[in-house]
Amino acid sequence: MRVLITTEQIQERIDELARQIAPEYRDRPLTIVGVLTGSVMFLADLVRRLDVPLRIGLIQASSYRGKNTTAGELYLGPGLLADVRGRHVLLLDDILDTGQTLSRIVQLLHDRGAASVKVAVLLRKQGRQMHAVTVDFVGFEIPDEFVVGYGLDYNDEHRQLPYIATLG
Ligand code: XMP
Repeated sequence: MRVLITTEQIQERIDELARQIAPEYRDRPLTIVGVLTGSVMFLADLVRRLDVPLRIGLIQASSYRGKNTTAGELYLGPGLLADVRGRHVLLLDDILDTGQTLSRIVQLLHDRGAASVKVAVLLRKQGRQMHAVTVDFVGFEIPDEFVVGYGLDYNDEHRQLPYIATLG
């Protein structure tokens, strides 16, 4: 395993993202929606730095894929999603790859009556986007390599690592 982004780099970048995000929601009802399971670390670290009132919602998403294959069929489980009608939603995910997951969830949030939807991802893989999705906040641009740690998994393992690493 090779460390690509250190714990310190992640934490510093999330400080910066929080400083950009908070002013946008000072006077607007905010719901942060995290995509399970990969966004849990990013969600926990970001919300503790946002000094604005907010609610937290979760949505389950999974698309079967191996280490470096294309995205498979997407399953969305909106059962945990709170009522977002009239609320300004900031959708969080660990990584933007093809964009399939986030484009579908953005559409779902609009269908559910969200007043606005913005997207924040910790990582964006370069040269992989195939589905149109506007990303408003990006932590790091990364090369097209399979990464684990800080919520990201391989076979449901390595999520607990406090840094991002590539699997050798
Ligand atoms: P799409 O293609 O929908 O993919 O943008 C987003 C989801 O795919 C998973 N993904 C990864 N998971 N290492 C991982 O652990 C990776 O390098 C990687 N690339 C994509 C992830 O679940 C993400 O939410």
